[in-house]
Amino acid sequence: MSKIFKFPERFLWGAATSAHQVEGNNHNDWTEWEKENAQRLSKESGGKYPPENYISGKACDHYNRYEEDFDIAKSLGHNAHRFSIEWSRIEPEEGKFNEKEIEHYREVIMALRQRGIEPFVTLWHWTNPLWIRDIGGWENPKTINYFLRYTEKIAQSLDIKSWITINEPSVYAGASYLFGQFPPNVKSWMRSNRVLKNLFAAHCKCYDFLHGYYGNSIAVGLSHNLHYHKPRRRKNLLDWLAVFFVNYIRDTRQIRLAQGKEDFIGLNYYYLDMIQFVFGGGRFGIADVKNPNYWKSDMGWEIFPEGVYHVLKDLNKYNKPIYITENGLADARDINRGKFIQEHLQWVSKAISEGVDVRGYFHWSLLDNFEWDKGFWPRFGLVEIDYKTLERKPRPSSIVYVEIAKANGINETTKEKEEK
Ligand code: FCB
Repeated sequence: MSKIFKFPERFLWGAATSAHQVEGNNHNDWTEWEKENAQRLSKESGGKYPPENYISGKACDHYNRYEEDFDIAKSLGHNAHRFSIEWSRIEPEEGKFNEKEIEHYREVIMALRQRGIEPFVTLWHWTNPLWIRDIGGWENPKTINYFLRYTEKIAQSLDIKSWITINEPSVYAGASYLFGQFPPNVKSWMRSNRVLKNLFAAHCKCYDFLHGYYGNSIAVGLSHNLHYHKPRRRKNLLDWLAVFFVNYIRDTRQIRLAQGKEDFIGLNYYYLDMIQFVFGGGRFGIADVKNPNYWKSDMGWEIFPEGVYHVLKDLNKYNKPIYITENGLADARDINRGKFIQEHLQWVSKAISEGVDVRGYFHWSLLDNFEWDKGFWPRFGLVEIDYKTLERKPRPSSIVYVEIAKANGINETTKEKEEK
């Protein structure tokens, strides 16, 4: 017999975007980097994607079309939306705030509220004003206070209840300063560590400031990218130790660095990492292995819906409300997205039924968008974008999400039904 699981009352259903990925016509450290690296990235793709794929350019022109996009979000049953404010627009030069841009975001927030959609606002989603880049970005401890000053300005100007200070500090510190993948392409454990600490220091200062300013009428958190790490060999103690170590370095450590200064935990969950301890043949260490049996996104990410349940259960020990601030997949043909949403939410519902305080889910993403160093080819949107005409078209899978959001519930047996 089919059973409906009801999500808690006032559960938030929405999608997430970030300024640089959707707005278009930004001028920040990424736009400069794109110009310098588009040819290289195109070459590295073996010519599969042209250099233009790697230039964010006008992106989705969401900066001008946000009302149309929010109309779509509303028609899809969303009652919340996560987006980010672009620091380089607000403070293009040190200490000079652009009131017109602040007004723009005021209108964005109003447009959401007019549609009954609650804004979740991210203050920093990976892009820096050029003057911040020029002083050494997040490696320079001065950036902490500059970021605080920007946060103060936003707090004094905009009416925001749910704040996400920083998006995925660990991914940024890793991709930009350890693996040399994102600007400024540094490969140094020490520098990456410094950046990570500065990001969390900035978060903590902003947390204190925002509560000092608003009291307890607001909620402040950050979005952590957390993983489900699984041992490659279930009966191998060394694999388990490796999982424990990787879990600490990648996940637990982040929560510690936030020093309890989180009113909620923002969880970005995407995939499974299978961990194996390797020793022998000249190799010693920990390997992140790919498993040919897993279901994959267009970007090769190993999809494992059950993982979100394990991560949520683990987060329960912090006794904080949790919002899933990102979860999604690149799926240009839209063949797996419906199933992806359904199964992840079934596992979320199981965690809730076992006492985990999950209060909202933001699918990544509302729109197809500019996926950083991969460019435009990965398609993450509930809504498809035709980049030539900028026409928006909800994908069939968005309906799966509409049904769950509108019912505020999910059929616990849908999965079995689908498989028959
Ligand atoms: C997350 C980022 C987001 C998007 C998704 C696919 O790590 O926060 O901007 O790129 O991955």
